[in-house]
Amino acid sequence: MKLEVVVLAAGQGTRMKSEIPKVLHKVADKALLEHVVALATTLDAERISVVYGHGGERVLNELSDLPVHWVEQAVRLGTGHAVMQAQDFIGDTATILILYGDVPLLRRSTTERLLRAVPEDGLAILTVHLEDPKGYGRIVRDASGAVIRIVEEKDCNALEREIQEGNSGILAVSGRRLKAWLARLGNQNAQGEYYLTDIVELAVADGVNVNSTSAEDADEVLGVNDRQQLAHLERVYQARVAMELMQQGVTLRDPKRLDVRGQIEVEGQDIEIDVNVVLEGHVRLGHRVRIGANTTIRNSTIADDVVILPNCHIEEASIGRDARIGPFARVRPGSVLSDKVHVGNFVETKKALVGEGSKINHLSYIGDADIGAGVNIGAGTITCNYDGVNKFKTTIEDGAFIGSDTQLIAPVRVGRNATVGAGSTITKEVPADQLTLGRSKQVTIAGWKRPTRNED
Ligand code: UD1
Ligand code: CA
Repeated sequence: MKLEVVVLAAGQGTRMKSEIPKVLHKVADKALLEHVVALATTLDAERISVVYGHGGERVLNELSDLPVHWVEQAVRLGTGHAVMQAQDFIGDTATILILYGDVPLLRRSTTERLLRAVPEDGLAILTVHLEDPKGYGRIVRDASGAVIRIVEEKDCNALEREIQEGNSGILAVSGRRLKAWLARLGNQNAQGEYYLTDIVELAVADGVNVNSTSAEDADEVLGVNDRQQLAHLERVYQARVAMELMQQGVTLRDPKRLDVRGQIEVEGQDIEIDVNVVLEGHVRLGHRVRIGANTTIRNSTIADDVVILPNCHIEEASIGRDARIGPFARVRPGSVLSDKVHVGNFVETKKALVGEGSKINHLSYIGDADIGAGVNIGAGTITCNYDGVNKFKTTIEDGAFIGSDTQLIAPVRVGRNATVGAGSTITKEVPADQLTLGRSKQVTIAGWKRPTRNED
């Protein structure tokens, strides 16, 4: 089956009270429209057309990378009119799937079920069963249960208003039929709009069967019209991701207190994630990784058996097996921490290669540094990497011991197994295997007295 998708995305979104066009609002850091296009992409559609309108420039600018064909709807005259704008790009022999740009959580399985329901050269609609169908078009069926019409709420009579089967708006239809029906749509209705839903009545008039299938739940066809719905769908999305993670063998201390905004790759089992964790971008987690409370990890790879204690911030980093990070560590972009590294509280690393088993346990800044294996960096050590204009590198070779409160004025190198005395300001090469100190000598002034206050 040849599939083409038309996404309706010209809605204004007045109730969002926003300068941002509605479809650019985000669920899990991804624009609503991107969620919809991602679904269309997984269905192997031959063409995806997006009908845009309000705030069009901005949509085009921000989403110019999407693999779609953009179609403008300059005036918003209804869903039928929106599809008419795209009809030059609709193939006769294709099945056309109509999606809404502001309905981000439609499941792939549901969509595939809808596509399978399309009769040869016919039409299938996706409906939804609702306690309160307010705002939805109602599905009218005949005595045999066949769909005969969709009535918009504003056009409903009292009986029709009682119908609890709503129209999701999503449908799939033969391209040839769709184009013929679009040409016959009128706008004699309560809103003076060209309703796409009227193609159902036209199909029935042409003797074409209309099939239907229902959404699993109301959330998957819920559109975003205001900030409450946006927040609700964010929670629905997060609940789905949490469920998937648990199914993959991840323990979540509270599935409601994990937020995933991107793609997480679980490469191992028995991962344990404590509360208030945020995972952003592309995060890979190995076997038995433990992530402490209040931690954010972005675009990073965490290997097997890593323990991340609470309150850490890890970004664009790679952390080797058995490493131990935090609490309160900030691991910044370009940090490559090897196996068994310890990075402790109030430590910041950036563009730092840290060799196996090295320890930076307290209150340090290690930036633009290449640190060997088995190095011990004492509390309060700072790589002074920046002169206000340029960044310079610090190299510390295997087995070196850096005493507490050392400043390493880069560019500088500390040799293998060297020891630097605490409180040193190191400006020159530190030779291997020896003790180097760079601090002023301690003196005691004999006979010195504290000044005293004159009492009269
Ligand atoms: C539409 C359906 C209704 C269904 C409901 C589900 C019609 C006539 N009605 O109603 O049966 O229950 O959705 O939410 O189809 N859009 C455009 N251009 C337009 C008008 C709309 O691109 O001129 C887009 C919107 O951006 C949105 C979608 O089409 O993504 C639906 O529009 P909306 O105004 O929300 O339709 P409803 O009146 O709610
Ligand atoms: Ca709507």
